[in-house]
Amino acid sequence: MRTQRLDTSPQAIAVAAELLRRGELVAFPTETVYGLGGHALDQTAVAAIFAAKGRPTSDPLIVHLATAADLPRVAVDIPPLATELATHFWPGPLTLIVPRHPHVPRAVTAGRETVAVRVPSHPVAHALLVAAGVPVAAPSANRFGHTSPTTADHVLADLDGRIAAIIDGGPTPIGIESTVLDCTTNPPTLLRPGGISLEALTAVAGPIQTYHRTTNKSETGFVSPGLLDRHYAPDHELWLFSGPLPDVLHRLRIETETALAAGLRIGLLLPAEDLMLFDDLPVEMESLGPATEPETMAQRLYAALRALDDRHLDRIFTRDLDEAGLGRALRDRLRRAAARVVFVN
Ligand code: TXA
Ligand code: MG
Repeated sequence: MRTQRLDTSPQAIAVAAELLRRGELVAFPTETVYGLGGHALDQTAVAAIFAAKGRPTSDPLIVHLATAADLPRVAVDIPPLATELATHFWPGPLTLIVPRHPHVPRAVTAGRETVAVRVPSHPVAHALLVAAGVPVAAPSANRFGHTSPTTADHVLADLDGRIAAIIDGGPTPIGIESTVLDCTTNPPTLLRPGGISLEALTAVAGPIQTYHRTTNKSETGFVSPGLLDRHYAPDHELWLFSGPLPDVLHRLRIETETALAAGLRIGLLLPAEDLMLFDDLPVEMESLGPATEPETMAQRLYAALRALDDRHLDRIFTRDLDEAGLGRALRDRLRRAAARVVFVN
């Protein structure tokens, strides 16, 4: 199969929408990352999504809708809190877990009685969903276990020849995935930090319980299969240094010098101001941007990881970032990508 590269003109979006209605797979930009879309109510299309991604069928998909008014098409007994959060945050990078409508194929929800739903705010995603007129199931458009794609080139590097088309809408503005919130528990459970901060959610929803990654269980024992520990894994070893900043920077220096002396090829994935401290060393660097700008760091994270991946390094060093706002999601993604966490102090 040749993968058709489409632009964002209304004609191209009409072509993509028709492909989706016919059960073909189309990758498209959202405000978070690129999605690998298929007709959510078509069993064959849903099976094709799992096959193209190489994703275990035990890991459920997010259903994308054009508007919050479509929610009753895929969900039943919608909790009032979900309606309230949808009103506040949709369209936008928030995925709500709600009870599944019986006509949503079980393959989408991996056999669960709940379904993940979101209304993306990206104008191209919105136009595509309106034109398709059907709910679109879409995981991130990467091969399973790879870094999520923030550009059309990232998508094609993983999926060229495995999907019918991709709409190239340029780099995605947020750069990390949506926040996933389970609204079927009381209080609601944060399953994945993402584009909407926990602080913003709490301001609307009140108390939220967080999911414990170490036990793979929330406080209510609910398990989310997609939240595997190593998920956004690059091809080589990523070491994450955690602790007070001055100690972390000192340790990073020592580890880098030691590794270089041992003949290893080292990459650094750090905020811009940290990288200046390593100017004198023969290392590969990818800047996340200013440490004071979590939005910029989120935008750059996945492209930076892929860029380092392409350079055949033995080891990449990074550090924990501040947890405020989008920082929580950044920290989560780095932890999942890390082969090893080094606690300093
Ligand atoms: O920003 C995003 O959310 C992107 C764009 C394309 O919308 N999509 C995305 O999809 O990140 P994916 O499949 O890579 O991640 C979906 C996450 C997985 O961790 C999955 O396990 C979880 O949502 N999930 C989906 N349905 C669920 C359900 N019914 N219960 C619990 N977790 C669910
Ligand atoms: Mg994913």
